[in-house]
Amino acid sequence: MSERTTGVTVSYAQSIDGRIATTTGDSRWISGPESLDFAHSLRGSHEAIMIGIGTVIADDPLLTCRLPECQSPHRFVLDSNLQIPSGANITRTADRVATTVVCAPDTFERCIEHVRRLESMGLRVETADRGPDGLDPCAVFDLLARDGIASLFVEGGSRLITSLIREHFVDRLIVVLSPMIIGNGYNAIGELDVQSLADAIRAEPVSLTSYGRDIAWELRLPAGREDAGDFRDDGSGNALEFARTKQQYE
Ligand SMILES: NC(=O)c1ccc[n+]([C@@H]2O[C@H](COP(=O)([O-])OP(=O)(O)OC[C@H]3O[C@@H](n4cnc5c(N)ncnc54)[C@H](OP(=O)(O)O)[C@@H]3O)[C@@H](O)[C@H]2O)c1
Repeated sequence: MSERTTGVTVSYAQSIDGRIATTTGDSRWISGPESLDFAHSLRGSHEAIMIGIGTVIADDPLLTCRLPECQSPHRFVLDSNLQIPSGANITRTADRVATTVVCAPDTFERCIEHVRRLESMGLRVETADRGPDGLDPCAVFDLLARDGIASLFVEGGSRLITSLIREHFVDRLIVVLSPMIIGNGYNAIGELDVQSLADAIRAEPVSLTSYGRDIAWELRLPAGREDAGDFRDDGSGNALEFARTKQQYE
């Protein structure tokens, strides 16, 4: 297994019954407008941001930081079969914001015309070996390490979050809880093969911050690396807020 060299934060907005989207994939917007700046500050305080192709297809996000004086992170899309549309927002803006799509080596060879089209639009297309959930996370993290990326923000969706948590790649979780009940829908986190509560992953609460009607809960995951707290302060005051609320738990 490859050495992990990046601190990994996962964040998502969920209903109080643990859904990040309805059964039709509708997730806009679970969180309220007050937590939007917070979400953008998280983007801006990481060197890279990552989503799975499912989220590109469902939401067509830009993944940029829209706060003033904020640098957008390098965007990574995990897409084994190179399904990313040429007209997707991420593709259209790849000439302005660093963007990498990672596909499987066999796809790269099979879809070389699509690869060249995407490259001509400014995207970098890289390859990583296939794994049980799409691409092998170890191979993907090797790419990040090769780029010298030290902090990664994972913004979804459900399958990507699940696979990274299952493989113990996540150091920090920030769950934005919205006072909304959805019922059936996309679970924030899917199958982890936990049969007994003794095997459940127990997170360490770090802070609790209100944003309008939402609550952002920051948690440290036990399998995370010791040095994962090395995140840049984005100057938004959120880091200070975390430190203050942390005392509530001590
Ligand atoms: N509420 C929120 O905060 C929030 C945030 C983001 C997304 N969402 C919602 O989540 C839903 C999409 O979730 P999703 O689970 O369908 O899509 P996803 O996690 O964004 O993408 C999953 C796809 O990524 C590819 N992939 C490649 N390597 C992977 C790996 N190691 N692990 C997991 N996936 C990998 C796989 O497709 P290939 O095999 O083709 O590569 C996989 O099917 C949408 O409805 C979206 O609105 C909600």
